[in-house]
Amino acid sequence: MTSALRIEGGNPLTGEVKVRGAKNLVPKAMVAALLGSTPSTLRNVPEIKDVQVVTSLVELHGVAVHNDPKTGELTMDPTNVSLANHADIDAHAGDSRIPILLCGPLLHTLGEAFIPDLGGCRIGDRPINYHLRVLEEFGAKVEKLPTGISMRAPSDGLKGAKIHLEYPSVGATEQVLLAATRAEGKTELTGAAIEPEIMDLIAILQKMGAIITVETDRQIIIEGVDELKGYTHTALPDRNESASWGSAALATGGDIFVRGADQKDMSTFLNVFRKMGGGLDIQDDGIRFYHPGTDLNPLFVETNVHPGFMTDWQQPLVVAMTQAQGVSVVHETVYENRFGFTDALVRMGATVQIHKDCLGPTVCRFGHQNFKHSAIITGKTPLHGADINVPDLRGGFSHIIAALTAEGTSNVTGVSVISRGYEHFVDKLQGLGAQFEVLS
Ligand code: EPU
Repeated sequence: MTSALRIEGGNPLTGEVKVRGAKNLVPKAMVAALLGSTPSTLRNVPEIKDVQVVTSLVELHGVAVHNDPKTGELTMDPTNVSLANHADIDAHAGDSRIPILLCGPLLHTLGEAFIPDLGGCRIGDRPINYHLRVLEEFGAKVEKLPTGISMRAPSDGLKGAKIHLEYPSVGATEQVLLAATRAEGKTELTGAAIEPEIMDLIAILQKMGAIITVETDRQIIIEGVDELKGYTHTALPDRNESASWGSAALATGGDIFVRGADQKDMSTFLNVFRKMGGGLDIQDDGIRFYHPGTDLNPLFVETNVHPGFMTDWQQPLVVAMTQAQGVSVVHETVYENRFGFTDALVRMGATVQIHKDCLGPTVCRFGHQNFKHSAIITGKTPLHGADINVPDLRGGFSHIIAALTAEGTSNVTGVSVISRGYEHFVDKLQGLGAQFEVLS
């Protein structure tokens, strides 16, 4: 796996890339397969590290997995689900946050579950308090051990519950869905997240035999059933990867057709892209994103839960904002600490100031807590090459775009974290004409 690149910047990225299934759906769909009594088939699966991690985890629990990376078809047979060895699961500690979602299905199937310490991107504390509370509300007994968290279902199984999420967390909503579908009785969830990846997970669960109703006002009702069967499903495309390539086209002055990008789940991003002056050509089989050849406009953007502007779209777009003429503002309201990546941009010549105040109409959860969660980006600033160590997935992709936008040479290390969520990204960069050398 590529871990360091020497990038020669200053050339526009042009050409075509293909995106496959969403990183933020596929691992959850794999977990859902554990709930079935028969095998499941998932299509459009990308070759990314998160899929490898979840494959290992479900295999440790007795699921037989067959993956054909070329066709993107993954089959999972859960008929022999069994308890995994704690030490084996622990070997995955730090790799991914997905293990917490295995709990519901394991509690149903085996009556107990164990998860290692959780990893994921370094973007704030990323607590799991909502997840643990949700599982307890279904009746699970949760015990924190030095190596991880152990859970046990009551002897007569998990029971449906009335659950309210104080913040519409994506993961906690998925936790409720995965635990409630086979719990006894009805579950009423209020304050639910309604991201397209969640709607796709609901579609999968419905194919398996679940009864889930999405009401207005972030309310989801799940009527528990005794048994679910396997599913066959094509994962929705990755709107985060699609938007990242769009921002890469804008920042580098390029022109990229993203095959597989789907307009309907990206309309908020496409509006922002257009308002910045970016060119769009929206087709049935993908979206062409291009720099107009004239000055880009500065913009105010506030990240939010769906249908707002996604937090994961923010970092690559900030790089494009350094190339817009004037002052842009980004107010991050989903994660308290998602501007760490801008330090490297500043070293490359960008003018970015980070503030603790809520710079926007919304007073968010972080406003009075001293978190640096608003950014002012003043452009247009030429960028120059620098030595960068990639901090996390989206920040890392932004650093790659910045290095490609900059004049001169950048040495970028820690690049392998990007393969958690961007399929074949080094090959894709090459196909778009990026000038770089693989150092290791
Ligand atoms: N939160 C809590 N307690 C919890 C769970 C969440 O306080 O128990 C807070 C988080 O700290 C955060 C907010 O709630 O401030 C939202 O977090 P959420 O649970 O919605 O995020 P997640 O499920 O952990 C997923 C994606 C993220 C994406 C967010 C928001 C996956 C694997 N990850 O995370 O994706 O940013 O939803 O849409 O689906 C990425 O792709 O780079 C990425 C970080």
